Amino acid sequence: MPTRLLTRSVPFFNYRGAFAGQEEEFVRIFRDVLRRGAFIMQRDLEQFEANLASYLGVKHAIGLANCTDALVIALRAAGIGPGDEVLFPSHTMVASPSSIFFVGATPVPVDCGPDHLIDPDSVRRALTSRTKAIMPVQLNGRTADMDAIGTLAREHGLVIVEDSAQGLGSKFKGRFAGTFGVAGTFSFYPAKILGCFGDGGALVTDDDEIARKTLLYRDHGRNAQTGDVEMWGLNSRLDNLHAAILDFQFRDYQAIIDRRRALARLYQDLLGDVPELVLPPAPDSNPDHYDTFQNYEIEAERRDDLRQFLKERGIGTLVQWGGKAVHQFHALGFTQRLPNTERLFTRCLMLPLNLTLADDDMRYVAGGVREFYGRG
Ligand SMILES: Cc1ncc(COP(=O)(O)O)c(C=O)c1O
Repeated sequence: MPTRLLTRSVPFFNYRGAFAGQEEEFVRIFRDVLRRGAFIMQRDLEQFEANLASYLGVKHAIGLANCTDALVIALRAAGIGPGDEVLFPSHTMVASPSSIFFVGATPVPVDCGPDHLIDPDSVRRALTSRTKAIMPVQLNGRTADMDAIGTLAREHGLVIVEDSAQGLGSKFKGRFAGTFGVAGTFSFYPAKILGCFGDGGALVTDDDEIARKTLLYRDHGRNAQTGDVEMWGLNSRLDNLHAAILDFQFRDYQAIIDRRRALARLYQDLLGDVPELVLPPAPDSNPDHYDTFQNYEIEAERRDDLRQFLKERGIGTLVQWGGKAVHQFHALGFTQRLPNTERLFTRCLMLPLNLTLADDDMRYVAGGVREFYGRG
């Protein structure tokens, strides 16, 4: 039983708040798109794709139904299939390896480093003659060490397909996540930094042939000009209405990132001296990394007790993927042991960080954490 009254409620994510913040604008967009009857592959989608491509500095950005499809299509378009092994970090959503599975290839999980991202040494150890691709996952709005991954890929003739579902806007050495490999993918799931009111995703690439195939895959293999079916395809189009919503929010994307980084800075100021915690690197602490803080994932001693303590104070937290790394889901049949990832999953915890939070909410969360460790 809680022993004290809640003084406020800070849910981990506030889905209704994401709409309420700009309700009038969103309703105006709904009305405009619906009155035009512009539902599938219309100008709002084209506009959003053009803006996304120009922001990332890539030749092609193609809206898709979700990031999972984008990964499947990217792998398929890159020629990955049966007999191939694809290395991915086990600290990821199951969507990363399921995309590998669904093109008929073998997903091979590798360990993470202290930054919670793919560990290049673990990649090196997992290479075999069948390895064809690496799928780095740009988790939590942070980009992996793409120099090391790029070197490995070059040395061994491997393709890089980036799962940047959580990485839009984050950079490594000034280069955007999603632009390092033959293709990068993004998710616009509602809780993502750039989220729509349902599912959405995109694939970006500089490769004309991958772009051509992606346009065919997303629309039943049909050539948009001739209507001819040129190959087997899927239905994986980003709804025009979602594209309009995304494009509207994307206009202020830098302001969104700035606010998230300010919130991360605030957590750093409020919790940086608590020895029982490992915080994500503070914004600007490493010139190689520009982080967007899609998530604020800490490591915490006595993590489960801390979670319960915060819950009793009305504070929502989350352990990603329901508390297990991918290779720990028994039904999937993995046999690898990944010590860093396994240790991390006894300690990792995400504190609330989103645009519906006021600084006082953050102080309340941090106050709860400090109180738990007796450092109030
Ligand atoms: C790392 C990662 N990869 C892939 C996905 C799948 O994205 P979507 O839900 O758009 O299919 C997610 C979604 O949360 C994710 O976080």
